[in-house]
Amino acid sequence: MLTFIMGLVICFWFLSLFAVETEGPLSVQLGASVTLPCSVDTPLPLNELEVQWMRAESGTLVHLFQEGQSRPESQNPSYSSRAEFFTEEIPKGNFSLLLINVTTEDRGVYRCRVHTDVVSNETNVEIKVERLVVTGASEPVSAYAGEDVILTCSVETHAPLQELQVEWVKTDEDILVLLFEEGQNIPESQHERFRDRAEFFTEEIPKGNFSLKLRGVRTEDRGEYMCKVHTDTESVSATAWLRELGSLVEAYTCSAVNLIRILMSFKINLVTYAKNVVRLNTSLSQLESPLFNTCMFMSQPYHTF
Ligand SMILES: *[C@@H]1O[C@H](CO)[C@@H](O)[C@H](O)[C@H]1NC(C)=O
Ligand SMILES: *[C@@H]1O[C@H](CO)[C@@H](O)[C@H](O)[C@H]1NC(C)=O
Ligand SMILES: *[C@@H]1O[C@H](CO)[C@@H](O)[C@H](O)[C@H]1NC(C)=O
Ligand SMILES: *[C@@H]1O[C@H](CO)[C@@H](O)[C@H](O)[C@H]1NC(C)=O
Ligand SMILES: *[C@@H]1O[C@H](CO)[C@@H](O)[C@H](O)[C@H]1NC(C)=O
Repeated sequence: MLTFIMGLVICFWFLSLFAVETEGPLSVQLGASVTLPCSVDTPLPLNELEVQWMRAESGTLVHLFQEGQSRPESQNPSYSSRAEFFTEEIPKGNFSLLLINVTTEDRGVYRCRVHTDVVSNETNVEIKVERLVVTGASEPVSAYAGEDVILTCSVETHAPLQELQVEWVKTDEDILVLLFEEGQNIPESQHERFRDRAEFFTEEIPKGNFSLKLRGVRTEDRGEYMCKVHTDTESVSATAWLRELGSLVEAYTCSAVNLIRILMSFKINLVTYAKNVVRLNTSLSQLESPLFNTCMFMSQPYHTF
């Protein structure tokens, strides 16, 4: 009876300590490393504890901690020297697992089961393996009409270039701007509006740089673009925005008009000033600091003495 009550007490104590940290699948890039979280808040006596990391679907043993030590000899060979505990973290009750050099076969649900003679609890962690990562620019690109722009698109993948299809689409109008397929650029599929104006940096493509160069930006070019990348199994895209700021001619005209406006107001002030001088028959001494007076008139253009 006493043992039962003690068991119950330990059970509640234990359950309350189990830290479940899972929120949705963890994304990891092919070949990268990932930490699968599993921990208890307060250290438990390690000798009485067993921690199993396994694949939830198949039951494959990924790693085992037993009788106070990690047991790499019992893990499935496919995880040999790829799955490790953080040794220095174990005394703190942290049984998170470091999985390195992730392969596509590693995707799925992993179960961390912590148990003693009395209690047992488990937590699941799902990992998703991304073979394809596409990055664009975070900021919209701005240009004046007639200028050249670059819309960024970087592709990281282990898939060979031959298997990649990269489309640049102007999404707001659903127009194909550029296409790369079967290892080459397909200019004849381009929409006529972008013919001879949009191109890849051909020599950059093997590095995964699928940035788009657009020459002579026009007003109708502004809007949303998408770099869509497809492999046999995945499709990932990045978005880019092009903002057109009006033409350069317009920009210069505007500046010129503003300059003229400033000069005109300056001239009006001078005329007002001269009129006032004449009307009041100001003595010459007052004209000796014309700069001071002009500034006064500039800031209070309709002031009269
Ligand atoms: C495991 O622990 C969690 C979190 O403390 C709890 O919600 C859950 O009921 C426990 N599961 C079992 C089987 O005891
Ligand atoms: C467990 O250890 C790993 C690796 O040091 C760390 O990233 C993680 O935050 C730790 N978890 C807790 C709950 O301390
Ligand atoms: C990762 O795995 C690949 C193939 O499975 C292998 O060729 C490579 O050497 C591994 N890299 C590391 C750092 O273990
Ligand atoms: C892609 O290549 C172009 C031309 O060399 C360069 O300007 C651009 O910065 C490159 N983009 C990335 C993401 O490397
Ligand atoms: C301006 O002042 C001068 C001398 O102070 C005076 O001789 C002249 O008549 C004045 N002219 C007018 C238009 O008031």
